[in-house]
Amino acid sequence: MPVPAHISDAPGSAVLSVALIDPDDQRRQKVAVALAEFQGTTVQEYSSFPPANLDALPRLLGQRYDAVLIDLDSDPEYAFDMVESLCATGSVTVMVYSAQSDLDLAIRFMRAGAREFLTLPLVRADIAGALGRVSIRHSATHHIRRTARKLFVFLGSKGGCGVTTIASNFAVALAQESGHKTLLIDFGLPLGDAAINLGMTAEYSTANAFQNSSRLDANFLCSLLARHSSGLSVLPAPGEFSPLQVPDEAIDKLLAVARQCFDYVVVDAGARIDLRGTALFEESAMLYLVTQVGVTELRNSNRLISQFFSNRGRKLQIVLNRYTPHALLFDDQQIDKALTRPAQWRIPDDYATARRTRNTATPVALEDSPISRAIRQMARTACGLPASPEKKRGFSLFRREFWSSARPSRETIESREG
Ligand SMILES: Nc1ncnc2c1ncn2[C@@H]1O[C@H](COP(=O)(O)OP(=O)(O)OP(=O)(O)O)[C@@H](O)[C@H]1O
Ligand SMILES: [Mg+2]
Repeated sequence: MPVPAHISDAPGSAVLSVALIDPDDQRRQKVAVALAEFQGTTVQEYSSFPPANLDALPRLLGQRYDAVLIDLDSDPEYAFDMVESLCATGSVTVMVYSAQSDLDLAIRFMRAGAREFLTLPLVRADIAGALGRVSIRHSATHHIRRTARKLFVFLGSKGGCGVTTIASNFAVALAQESGHKTLLIDFGLPLGDAAINLGMTAEYSTANAFQNSSRLDANFLCSLLARHSSGLSVLPAPGEFSPLQVPDEAIDKLLAVARQCFDYVVVDAGARIDLRGTALFEESAMLYLVTQVGVTELRNSNRLISQFFSNRGRKLQIVLNRYTPHALLFDDQQIDKALTRPAQWRIPDDYATARRTRNTATPVALEDSPISRAIRQMARTACGLPASPEKKRGFSLFRREFWSSARPSRETIESREG
């Protein structure tokens, strides 16, 4: 495993997320590579400036990132307007760079609120210093962040119920809709397939986290994660059979570190009720029990709910997957009775979408379909938004034009009216 550089003076416990905005592809990629060398830093590239409505920029970028790094050379005046707008609320640290080491230019942008002025080509020590200062500032203001650190756990009443399909697409939709830092962890055993469902290949897995549990911290966790084009971070399950026996403490540690770094942590727990002694099932976690309307699935759900989860109240939500209204076997009353309570969510049986997205390794959440609409509603509700989006949308960072782009870390800032 390569050893990434450290951010000097950084407290070392937080992951820094940086939005990099530069319309010049070559220059932006060079800067992104330089930043990515620093352990604990995640970089999201934006290949265009927002065309209008800069008023919305602080809210949208401030929610998602700790720092924004802006190129000055493509359009200095527009960059100036962006810096002024972003700095007006102080919601995010702004840094700028230029190929000109021009003192007047630097003073002008610092007066507008930019915290760092970097000169190209970037010098490693300068980036380390700048990121270190951002990190210190970030940790000082961290305690007043308003986002709740929430854990969402998806458990199946039986293998094959659809836990991975729902958990992985819920995580994509949650990252997009909330705009907050979101992590998906796959606890699938012996081999998980959440990453495959999202069309991702990843170098590391939960096995690396568990094998090195004693030294697991935010920086180390961050170095294991794969990044999906939706902005979601993913820690997949191992892709090989592993004889590793994982103690409950190692699972608790991984969850604690993950919750320290991310606003939302989504877990694909498969059918692993054996993990019920771990922090996965602690009271504050939102547990989604995924089941289908079949004799065994409903019997299992009944036993799980009555033996283990009867006291969870609203922290247990039941998801009926592959649901077909008026199915011959059971009516809704019988389903409610078996489940001891009504199910909150119904995901339609949509074989065509499931098969197509599986064959093309495209996440369901990135297409419009009956399944994706239902899962998006779950995700919106989970992050406190109305289940259905309002018709009129303003400036949005989250309607990605680059979902199917060959370069997954690139996205564009765009303005959408109406
Ligand atoms: N709503 C749905 N409509 C149609 N097919 C679905 C739906 N949900 C899941 N499937 C399909 O069901 C199969 C099992 O789904 P999935 O892998 O998500 O289940 P799982 O509970 O994670 O299984 P495992 O126990 O193997 O981890 C997959 O082929 C998937 O495409
Ligand atoms: Mg699965």
